Amino acid sequence: MSVVGIVPAGGSGERLGADRPKAFVVCAGRPLVDWSLEVLESVCDRVVVAAPAAYLRPGWVEAGPSRSASVRNALAAAPEATTAVVHDAARPLVKRDLVERCMAALEPGIEGAIAAARMTDTVKEAAADRRVLRTLDRSVLWAVQTPQVFRADVLQRALERDEMALAAATDDASLVEDLGGTVRVVEAPPENIKVTRTADLHMVEALLC
Ligand code: C5P
Repeated sequence: MSVVGIVPAGGSGERLGADRPKAFVVCAGRPLVDWSLEVLESVCDRVVVAAPAAYLRPGWVEAGPSRSASVRNALAAAPEATTAVVHDAARPLVKRDLVERCMAALEPGIEGAIAAARMTDTVKEAAADRRVLRTLDRSVLWAVQTPQVFRADVLQRALERDEMALAAATDDASLVEDLGGTVRVVEAPPENIKVTRTADLHMVEALLC
């Protein structure tokens, strides 16, 4: 069994308004990506990061035009993988325990195990004119995060889609679901947040220091 960590780190981070790609913005003293890298390296046999060309380090691969294309590029560089642990560079608060719990949830008959937090907000569906259509039952809703752990062969098949389909996917699990794969949620702490805006970066820095 070979466990390969895949870290998509190719986003431009436009919403962050920084002078460099989001994963390379300095956060609590080091590039954002290094926090996730350290955790994944402690549980995986090796880690492949997909980064913009100007930021490549040895063993890394160039990012693709979308997040899923970046995951595809990184997985292609790890043909020995039997298990793929995908984790966004933008979630630096991930803990080793969460990665291990996702890996453990990949039991026979399960193709993917994904970190997710229970919804605490009320969630409503609204029309284009913002008229509320309905209130969803939040007791069965989960806010999905990474890590997302998959059987590597299944993830590889799930990623064999055209660039448009890859760009439309907001996570890897949805591509595995499209194949008919069974995916299970693993309860994760809500503080495993994704850095999107400047306020997120400040919050993460406060929690890391
Ligand atoms: O933009 P967003 O925060 O949703 O991106 C999630 C993750 O996907 C980030 O870690 C980002 O660096 C990565 N990404 C990528 N390649 C892209 C776009 C995003 O690796 N083309």
